[in-house]
Amino acid sequence: MILVTGGAGYIGSKLVPALLESTGPVRVVDTLWFGNSLLAHPQLELIRGDLSDFDVAWLDDVDAIIHLAGLSNDVSSEFAPGLSVHANVAATTRLAEAASEKASRRRLPIKLIFASTCSVYSRPSNGASAECDLLSEEYAATPTAIYARSKRAAELDLLRLAAGNPLFCPVILRMGTVFGLSPRMRFDLVVNTFALDAWRKRVLTLEGAQGIWRPLLHIDDAIGAYIALLSSQLARTRERIFNLLGSNYRIADLATELASAFWQHFGVFIEVRRNELANNGGRSYCADGHRITEALGICPRREIIPAAISMWNALERGDFGSQPQDNPRYFNVQWLEQTLGNDSTLNQTATRP
Ligand SMILES: NC(=O)c1ccc[n+]([C@@H]2O[C@H](COP(=O)([O-])OP(=O)(O)OC[C@H]3O[C@@H](n4cnc5c(N)ncnc54)[C@H](O)[C@@H]3O)[C@@H](O)[C@H]2O)c1
Repeated sequence: MILVTGGAGYIGSKLVPALLESTGPVRVVDTLWFGNSLLAHPQLELIRGDLSDFDVAWLDDVDAIIHLAGLSNDVSSEFAPGLSVHANVAATTRLAEAASEKASRRRLPIKLIFASTCSVYSRPSNGASAECDLLSEEYAATPTAIYARSKRAAELDLLRLAAGNPLFCPVILRMGTVFGLSPRMRFDLVVNTFALDAWRKRVLTLEGAQGIWRPLLHIDDAIGAYIALLSSQLARTRERIFNLLGSNYRIADLATELASAFWQHFGVFIEVRRNELANNGGRSYCADGHRITEALGICPRREIIPAAISMWNALERGDFGSQPQDNPRYFNVQWLEQTLGNDSTLNQTATRP
């Protein structure tokens, strides 16, 4: 049995059906903040639950854990720093402690694959940079944003627990920004946002500095990596950190390439507009993805343009309703503002990461 926390989210709702197909029974624990797009399946057990109120029974018969649950971008963590600490750090530590105890009790290893982020490498952008240093896992991650700090704090807790128990086997997967269609869609991820804006407004706006870079990752490559990591030898993955990305992109180049592709495919002119005055947080980073390829043969290859065309076609079909831009479910922070905004405990100052 595989436990997938946050399995009803953007990555999880595409990963879980793939796991059911390829590996067998799956238990999902999710607060269902964004609803549930998982289809019923005889081998799927769906539990609406919060990892902060951890129930050890969630680990019954579990051999491996894919830990996706948490606040999943900068703006959400900035909106609710207290929740960011609870959901991303404290809940991860609680889950890891329970998994470690369970592994000791049954004298069998438990693998936990943690969804971390390449944004732990983020640093201030130096303006209109045509180059970007590729940061490998050796680079000392010193994140400044609340989201990335919370992920780094969780990584350190996992490694600390692993140091004390050889049967607890965490793997840290630092993903780039994911793109592509999912049953639980997000339009607050850069490629997905551009696909929506191009389709709806015929304009792609570059906010702030032109030199911003991001590592990008196709959702199907992310899913392939999780499945491969589940079956990888523990000796090759235990306590290891892996970057996972397809390619690094300067966001200005991404916009230009997408505009050109939409012109070629649909004959629609998309204007690329620059808004130099906007504040986009100013962080920029590129990651080196070689380690996971060399160690495990995992090599993300899927490209952006076909994924963007698929998103345009899905929008055109009305898969996300006629006004997806007005549906807060597709934009994590908007949804959190609407659904959790009145809970004052969420906005307390983060002290931990
Ligand atoms: N999407 C990306 O580009 C990306 C990139 C790097 C890392 N990640 C990480 O991957 C993970 C999944 O990302 P996603 O895009 O699917 O995010 P998502 O926001 O769509 O899904 C997160 C899911 O976790 C659930 N959740 C949150 N807190 C919980 C808790 N305390 N207990 C139980 N369930 C909880 C939510 O209900 C949601 O379904 C996140 O941890 C994110 O930080 C995502």
